[in-house]
Amino acid sequence: MWWEKEGHLEVKDNLLYIGGMSARALAEKYGTPLYVYNKKRILENFNELNNAFLKHNQNVRIHYAMKANSNLEVLRTLKDAGAYIDAVSPLEVETAFRAGFPKERIMFTGTSVSNDDLIRLLETGVFLNIDSVSQIKRLQKLTDKKLDISIRWNPGEGSGAGHHSNTITAGKYVKFGIPEHKLEDAVLEAKKAGFNIVGLHQHIGSGWLKEDVPTFLSSVDKTIDTAKRIETLTGQKLSFIDFGGGPGIPYTETQKLFPVDEYAKGIYEKIKSSGVDAVVAIEPGRFIAGDAGILLVEANTVEEKNIPVVGVNAGFNTIVRPAMYGSYQEIVVCDNVDSTSKKEYLVAGNLCETGDVFTENRKVLRALPQICEGGILAILDAGAYGFSMASTYNSRPLPAEVMIDGATSKIIRRRQTLDDILREQESV
Ligand SMILES: Cc1ncc(COP(=O)(O)O)c(C=O)c1O
Repeated sequence: MWWEKEGHLEVKDNLLYIGGMSARALAEKYGTPLYVYNKKRILENFNELNNAFLKHNQNVRIHYAMKANSNLEVLRTLKDAGAYIDAVSPLEVETAFRAGFPKERIMFTGTSVSNDDLIRLLETGVFLNIDSVSQIKRLQKLTDKKLDISIRWNPGEGSGAGHHSNTITAGKYVKFGIPEHKLEDAVLEAKKAGFNIVGLHQHIGSGWLKEDVPTFLSSVDKTIDTAKRIETLTGQKLSFIDFGGGPGIPYTETQKLFPVDEYAKGIYEKIKSSGVDAVVAIEPGRFIAGDAGILLVEANTVEEKNIPVVGVNAGFNTIVRPAMYGSYQEIVVCDNVDSTSKKEYLVAGNLCETGDVFTENRKVLRALPQICEGGILAILDAGAYGFSMASTYNSRPLPAEVMIDGATSKIIRRRQTLDDILREQESV
């Protein structure tokens, strides 16, 4: 199978194994729907990125974008591996603290950041990456400190890339970052406030692949030029440039693996030839957690309606990517993985919504090996933007999460209960 990876996802005797453990056994032990993460795979992904830079003696600071998956155990795993954190809300910052990250390893990059957010962030002492001139002006009123800050800029039209138009974060109709024509204002306001601009940041979008690497690398050029411009404006050297996140993973057989070496070499060569002497930072989320997570669900209804429908015990409240972005997620029939006799099904969730399906849209059926009621299905590549975007819509509780660590598995989040869901209402 195109998605098999030794030691992570394997097929033996027609059965699916995750990190050497039977998918069915995991489903039986912990119940479904169940997110299963493989620690080994998370570390492999992190190390692959790190090593690609080290090959060129280029140190890189990897800020894990915890929005992709903020389970404490995932965070602890990456903390121990030496990761930094990209946090996008005050409570993400505090979650990173609880996972043991020191403030020196956390950078906050927010959007539509309120004064309340800023007050809370100032209390934490984490590094602030600034998204708007307004933020600089308001920060100045909220603190007497001469802060070190960085600027998130928007490299402009044609610089964005992403798996969906809503995940492209550079360009004109985009809320993120400070556009080129406002950079001087930002520098001026920072000067007035007594803040030191020590870094520059770009993030062009999420989930881009090999064909987007040239676009990314041309944004790297622009960002390096902008870094020089800021150095001239401030009269000070920048200590880091952050090229953001976004490297994608193949969700389908036809998508290619992300060219990690081409990406790292491209950044390295551009930095080297520019003469800029700044630490390089990146902020991957999906690349690290994406393929390390699998969502296990159970088929409860297999029936010929107008079309053959397989109903499962999860919905877009559990994994929103297909419904929200029309994204393809590979579905594996865990007890009958490589049967060549296939049938086309609509794999549908348990929410009262017509669009609650696990295919790209409800008119697309998926050819799968025969599915029986009680069968376990694995939705692959669910480790990033899976649980972290889950909700309790239809009063369906958040699923449990399990981490496989070598020969053992452990629960890292228990399944939610009705009491959990109602706590904030019943305690008022
Ligand atoms: C500022 C920032 N950095 C990093 C990321 C991580 O993106 P990805 O998970 O695609 O690497 C995002 C996500 O959109 C982001 O907004």
